[in-house]
Amino acid sequence: MACFVINGQRKIEGEMTVQGAKNGALPLLAASVLVRGKTVLSGCPQLTDITAAANILTYLGCKVITDGDVMCVDSDSAAGFAVSDSLMHEMRSSIVFLGALLGRFGKAELTAPGGCEIGLRPIDLHLEAMRSLGAVIDEKGGRLVCSCPGGLKGTRISLSFPSVGATENILLAACTAKGETLVVNAAREPEIAELACFLNRCGADIRGAGESVIRINGVKKLTACEHRIRQDRIAAVTYMAAAAVTGGKLRLNFSDTELLMPVIEPFEKTGCQITPDEKGICLKAPERLKKFGMIRTMPYPGFPTDSQADLAVMASVAQGTSTVVENIFENRFKYVGELRKMGAQIRTENRVAVIEGVGRLSGARVVSHDLRGGSALVVAALCSEGTTVADGIHHIDRGYEKIEKQLTELGAEIYRKEQYDG
Ligand code: EPZ
Repeated sequence: MACFVINGQRKIEGEMTVQGAKNGALPLLAASVLVRGKTVLSGCPQLTDITAAANILTYLGCKVITDGDVMCVDSDSAAGFAVSDSLMHEMRSSIVFLGALLGRFGKAELTAPGGCEIGLRPIDLHLEAMRSLGAVIDEKGGRLVCSCPGGLKGTRISLSFPSVGATENILLAACTAKGETLVVNAAREPEIAELACFLNRCGADIRGAGESVIRINGVKKLTACEHRIRQDRIAAVTYMAAAAVTGGKLRLNFSDTELLMPVIEPFEKTGCQITPDEKGICLKAPERLKKFGMIRTMPYPGFPTDSQADLAVMASVAQGTSTVVENIFENRFKYVGELRKMGAQIRTENRVAVIEGVGRLSGARVVSHDLRGGSALVVAALCSEGTTVADGIHHIDRGYEKIEKQLTELGAEIYRKEQYDG
């Protein structure tokens, strides 16, 4: 299995342009089967999760052409509404195809994703919402067989938690439903506003996306359009953390700097100077980071769960003690055991991690258990004394485009090896 070999203690310095957002692209790819005609998505990151979504589209009968960062999906030939078990298992978030297929065909057949490395991840909110829009869902042996005998009808949906995926599925299913759908306690993540913006440009009538209450007036027809995917706010934080822990200086070309606001304060508390300018932001790290105190992960615009592992690495080499409270997923501290192998002093109890900064980490053989925990181990390796070998990097390839190339250009010594024999 492939691994990264990283020789640490090289400063991360220079300028980079952040990739397109994985979590923005995935619902847009699902949307491309809902809308008729040719969707052209530019700024599409080259990632295994994106390939998995493209494979589903092809399986459903869409014509998919990828040219660099442009993905073109022609859905006119789409005929299938059932996604095979094996394709569903390639990527957990393929559940977002549920709303799109119901909207397009009035039918969908998918595999229910189980729990994963970061938690139980039930889909009860998705299913409840689809049912209140008129879907009949039969759950048989892990397969979801869904139909809408009377068609989809607008209704009021109050989410008990602002789930990102459930909100996306509601938008996709409701925009061609009959009448008005009101979503209360909707997720406010930027990916929701982006999906709504795309759908509106295709002819949908969605108001309030990005806020807690969204109104969707069903329309008869949606026609594909071109869209540029926004940059990845989570990947941006990973590269910022890489510069921070190595005492580096990074200029990040990032067009939507307001998306980084939830993370700016803890970075500044560590002593990093962050200066916005017309192209993005500039981060200058101090010689030694300071503690950031406490972060609590929350739905947007709170501190993102996807960035807590990066901050935990920063706290591991900072002066003083910091605390991370994970409020979104049950099992997002799997990276802690690996960081301890590198010398980090971290105690965890349930959803709380208390991190005492040790100043310096040491290279070790570590394994990624999930995407963000894995990229945080790479960040840790960049500032560690000696060599780190990181296994399980297929998780990192799900969300970071050519991470080793990006980091090499910024001064890191990182190599991908198909096998490491010591
Ligand atoms: C999205 O996952 C992202 N994935 C995640 O990024 C991100 O961490 C998460 O939102 C929170 O920001 C994609 O966009 C593809 P949720 P999603 O539904 O939609 C519980 C990454 O590393 N819940 O908001 O699955 C759930 O178990 C990934 O890029 C229910 O209980 O997140 C979790 O505890 C990881 N029932 C919480 O809500 C449901 O029906 C938040 O989940 C749905 C969710």
